[in-house]
This record gives sequence, structure tokens and C-alpha cells, in this order.
Amino acid sequence: MTHSNDIPTSSRISGFYRRTVDQRVSLVAGWADLNVDERAALAQGGLDLDQADHMIENVVGTHGLPLGIAVNFTINGRDYLIPMAIEEPSVVAGASYAARLARAGGGFSAHATAPEMIAQIQVLDVVDPWSARHKLLAHRERLMARADEIDPLILRLGGGMRDIEVQVIERSPVGPMLELRLVYDCRDAMGANALNTIAETLAGTVAEIAGGRVNLRIISNLADRRLARARCVIPSSALEIEGYPGAVVVARIVEAYALAVSSPYRAATHNKGIMNGVDAVVVATGNDWRAIEAGAHAYAARTGRYTSLSHWEANAEGDLVGTLEMPMAVGTVGGATRVHPTARAALKILRVQSAVELAGVIAAVGLAQNLAALRALASEGIQSGHMKLHARQVAVAAGAVGAQIEQVAQRILVAQRLAHLLAGRDPKLLLHQVHARDHLGHRMLHLDPGVHLDEEEAVLLVEDE
Ligand code: MEV
Repeated sequence: MTHSNDIPTSSRISGFYRRTVDQRVSLVAGWADLNVDERAALAQGGLDLDQADHMIENVVGTHGLPLGIAVNFTINGRDYLIPMAIEEPSVVAGASYAARLARAGGGFSAHATAPEMIAQIQVLDVVDPWSARHKLLAHRERLMARADEIDPLILRLGGGMRDIEVQVIERSPVGPMLELRLVYDCRDAMGANALNTIAETLAGTVAEIAGGRVNLRIISNLADRRLARARCVIPSSALEIEGYPGAVVVARIVEAYALAVSSPYRAATHNKGIMNGVDAVVVATGNDWRAIEAGAHAYAARTGRYTSLSHWEANAEGDLVGTLEMPMAVGTVGGATRVHPTARAALKILRVQSAVELAGVIAAVGLAQNLAALRALASEGIQSGHMKLHARQVAVAAGAVGAQIEQVAQRILVAQRLAHLLAGRDPKLLLHQVHARDHLGHRMLHLDPGVHLDEEEAVLLVEDE
């Protein structure tokens, strides 16, 4: 939906994927009130060599990724356009499509816990570990007060030390040791810098109190005190597709989820689908996707058995209900979120006010991505949609430009379908769908570029109408 002057009034933008790149940029710029520099950052990848040279070592260039916008998201009653940086086709279309399904059920609800991160201090060479633990906990207030002196700004913003826990590890490859856990609310920061500084600053005092030697002082990426949660209800009628009544799709999605709960082999792929959405927003906003990945998979294995991060069930009305809970250590200040011009523009497009809000939005995108994959897998499979987009990539890689890309992609698709037909693997493709002049000869395919496969457009691409 758009104003007459083309500023969208909701994230439900019909036919967004059919617009030109310039038209999409104009819509998004109108939505987020992007200035000239921010628009330019989208077009040019944002980061110049000088900025890159100040971010990491030994810079020789920059490395671009496509930035797409997932449409249709409504979360806690608010509409969002979602910037996603990712090289994999189908992900942005899948998220947009699933968000449209969720919209039919009122959209996503999402929230996140307080942004509390954990840092660890390892204490070795302690003669009496339980007494050392006792002493450290007796000095808890003093240690917390010292930690709170380190970043007065975070304290003023309502963050700061929340707790100190001490674990005795009686047996390890190097004998007994203590593990001190510092719990710190880092507000809108990701928290690694703040927590690492605090851990390093407290180390000397901790060693002194415990009567031991401190080795590691570092943040933990198992951010299980900083969780994001999302939920959606999809009316079963919205899930109906040709040949698959809604109730069947609901049942099959729940069955597919059951395999992810039961088998780590499926759980890894199921969670990878969630991370397709999560990482794409994390990367777009300049956050640390390795930290998010580490946290997600450690959390998925927290019971000692790796399992699904999401849950899918049917409610009393037979509608599909999905929930997702996972660690989400993302910031809206600090690091690349503010330095990288495209990340800054992405945060502006999201219009989030805090790291907690961003965490909830990302969880909703992860759940949407999971739904898109499960819905396709539980019905016609993902390959038809994927192959179409992949064919375009192959065409570009082969040097096609402009209108040639679509023509070459269509030839590739027809060739693939014909190969499947000949192998007897695609009973859906009828011979009359291939032009009479098409033939196989001397291992060459001569195909009419006018052959259209649009009716078979992938379910993942159907984000509209
Ligand atoms: C591909 O990137 C992601 C999927 O494999 C996820 C899934 O199987 O649920 C489609």
C-alpha cells in the first residue's frame, strides 16, 4: 500500500518484487526518510576503502552482498520493512511470503528479555575451591560496584551489573577450577567490548580474593539471559495450496517439525533455515553474526541434545501456531552498526528504537523464514522456486546482462525440466509445455526462448496478490 506520492503507508507493498531497483529504493527511502547519503549507501555498498581500512587489518578491498527488503511484516501491531543482506536466493521472497501468511493471523508478536550478557573469569590454582567460592560471593557487592564504575554511561542509561555467580568445576583436564560469571545489562550495545573490559578489570581483585590465578576473561556467546521470542498464528485456510488443503499443510508442517525435534540431523537444517532469516538481518544491521550463530546452536543443544529452536503445533481451531526462542545478542549502537553506512541505513529502514526491539524483530524474521521453508517442504518441495532463482544466478555468472538474464535463465530451466522429464522424475511437466522445435540432438538443447514457465512460478516467489 502506498500514498499517492509513493511513500508506503504499510509494509504490505503489493508487487514490490516486480518493481525496478530504483523504484524499490524510492519506496524504501520514502518509508524511512533516507537522505541522499543513505540512499547512496544502499546503492554503493556503503563502505569505502578508507572506512574498511579502519575496521580490520590488511585491507585490500570490500566485499559486497545483495541487500533485499522483506515486505509484509507486522510485529506487535507495527509494520516493518526488513533489510536482509544475503547471497542465497529465495530467502527474502520466503520471508515476505511467510510474513503475508502471518499477517492473515494478526502478524507476529515478539519480545526480548533485558539485554543481559555474561562474561566468564576462569580461576585456577585454588587450593580450596568451595571456600574460594564462598569468599568471592561474600565480596559480590564490592565486585559489582567496581564493575559499575567502568562505564558510567551504561549505568546512566539504566544498564549495569546485575549479578555475579560462581561455579566450582571439580574435575577438568587441568584439575579443579572456578568459573565466575558476570551478568551485565549492556542496554543497546552488543556488549562484547563492555563485558570484556569489565572481566579484565576485575580479574586482579578476583584472583586476590580467591587466592588463585586468573586465566580467561571473556564474554560468553551463550547469551541465554538475552533471549528473543516470536510467535505467529497462521489460519489453516491461508496455508492451502493447489492439491494441498490447509489442514493437510498444517499437519505436514507439524510432522516436519517433529523430525527436527527428534533428529539432530534434521534439527541442524531446520535451524539453518531459521538462521537464513536471522543472519541476513544481523549482517544488514552490522551486527556480529558469528556470535549469533554460536549462541543459537549452543542454546539449541542446552539440554545435552541438539534440537529445534522453534516449535510448531495446531491450536484448537486447527490453525498453525509457531513460536521461536533463541539468544539474540544484537546492538543498535557501537561497532559496525554505526560505522558502516549501509548498516546505519538498514537500522533506519527498520525504525527500531532499541536493541531489545531489534532482537524481537529478528526473532520474527527467523520464525517467518522457518515457516516459509517448512511450508514449501511440506508440500511441493523447495527446488522449483530455488532452481528458478538459481538459474538467474547461473545466467549472470555466464555473462548475461539485462534482458538476457531472464532469457538465459528460462532456457536453463527448460533444459532442467526436460532432463527431469527424460529421467521420468517430473510427472507434472507435460510434453506440450515444451515447444515442438525443442529437441535433443548431439547432446545440445535448442530451446525456444519464448517458452514460458511462469505458471509454475515457485511458491516461494508468490509474495503478492
Ligand atoms: C536452505 O537454505 C534452508 C532449508 O534447508 C531449511 C529447511 O530445510 O528447513 C530449506
